[in-house]
Amino acid sequence: MAGKLKAIVNISEIATALGNKAVGGHQMKNISVLKDAGIIIEDDNIVFVGTMSELVNSDYYKSLDKLEVIDAGARLVTAGYIDSHTHFVFGGDRANEYNMRLNGASYMDIMQAGGGIQASVLATRASSFEELYARGEAVLKNMMLLGITTVEGKSGYGLDEATEMKQLKVLSKLNQNYPVEVVSTYMGAHSVPPEMKGRARDYLESLKPAMKKIRQQDLAEFCDIFCEDKIFGIAETRDYLTYAKEIGFKIKLHADEIVDIGGAKLASEIGAYSADHLLMISDQSIDAMKKTGVVATLLPMTAFSLREHYAPARKLIDNDVAVALASDFNPGSCPSYYNPLIIALSTLNMAMSIEEVITAMTLNSAAAIDRADKVGSVEVGKKADLIIHNVDSYLDIPYSLGRTTVDTVLKNGNVIVKESSIV
Ligand code: NIG
Ligand code: FE
Repeated sequence: MAGKLKAIVNISEIATALGNKAVGGHQMKNISVLKDAGIIIEDDNIVFVGTMSELVNSDYYKSLDKLEVIDAGARLVTAGYIDSHTHFVFGGDRANEYNMRLNGASYMDIMQAGGGIQASVLATRASSFEELYARGEAVLKNMMLLGITTVEGKSGYGLDEATEMKQLKVLSKLNQNYPVEVVSTYMGAHSVPPEMKGRARDYLESLKPAMKKIRQQDLAEFCDIFCEDKIFGIAETRDYLTYAKEIGFKIKLHADEIVDIGGAKLASEIGAYSADHLLMISDQSIDAMKKTGVVATLLPMTAFSLREHYAPARKLIDNDVAVALASDFNPGSCPSYYNPLIIALSTLNMAMSIEEVITAMTLNSAAAIDRADKVGSVEVGKKADLIIHNVDSYLDIPYSLGRTTVDTVLKNGNVIVKESSIV
């Protein structure tokens, strides 16, 4: 018995990466571009991708009367975008710090003066579940309009068990109530809380009971840590992540953002899904990532907002590493999740081609959160997470500089955004 069938017809072009795992190096630019195409969806899965003439000759077409037909209006279709690194649930804001930075202060200066993550920790502790939910919900709706069909969200603005749990429960409720999949990451190791200043190792040790509960209650699938000079060093990060892995977390790292302390190399050693930021990554770590297939998640809007140089995308790709792109949306270092800016910065300032950017924002981002077998490309067997753009070719995506091209969005085969409005 066939499930509910839906066809998207009259597609000018389907532009997509292909496969069930991250693609690295020169393969990143080898996207498939199929002109004059159609897609058939059964329930939430893609069951047919081909040219319109193939579609017309297929068995599905014979049951056209049973198909719900969406006319793409001779426009471009891609896979839904995946934002695989965000901190989108938090209390308060840090507009004051942003303006201090505009006037010359550095991110580290502000952090060491008691601002930075600590400021957001106080505001998040003081926010109720309902307040955090309402803030997160507003962001998630905007993300839907930007074609984001899967998003990762981290805790890490609580640094105590109750607040970390509160953040994770907000993420979990958003996942239940919204069609976008929200993948949760526990990041109690975002910073050492004020009450344990100077005792990084003791703090990490103290997290163990809460981590166990969080994992047992399936409140987070991934565990992440800010592995950085003056935050959490290599040896303590290794011990912490080894424990996290033992109790069933999948691993991610904020690594080599400000100083190269070998975080990306550790990500390879420990079997992480991704190492993120990587502005200062060493040649030795690049080599390790290439060998182990850890995804390099680059966050250009953070570098832009901090007025730092960009991560070496070209060097990573030229050395066969799989690169993903994500927002890093958070109240401090990157107050944006506006993905047209990711596209602009990565193409203009990181020398990535739009083909590589598409792969990085879809399939490779899916791989960074262990979803590459389900989403991230327009292929038979994948979930029907799709964007109908308001342009007819993928070449128009970077050219639509600073504007979103997203018109209609499908998640699991259901239209969730139509003509730039939430359905
Ligand atoms: O990914 N690097 C550490 N964490 C965040 C910043 C968090 C904050 O400033 O609140 C990041 O950039
Ligand atoms: Fe981050």
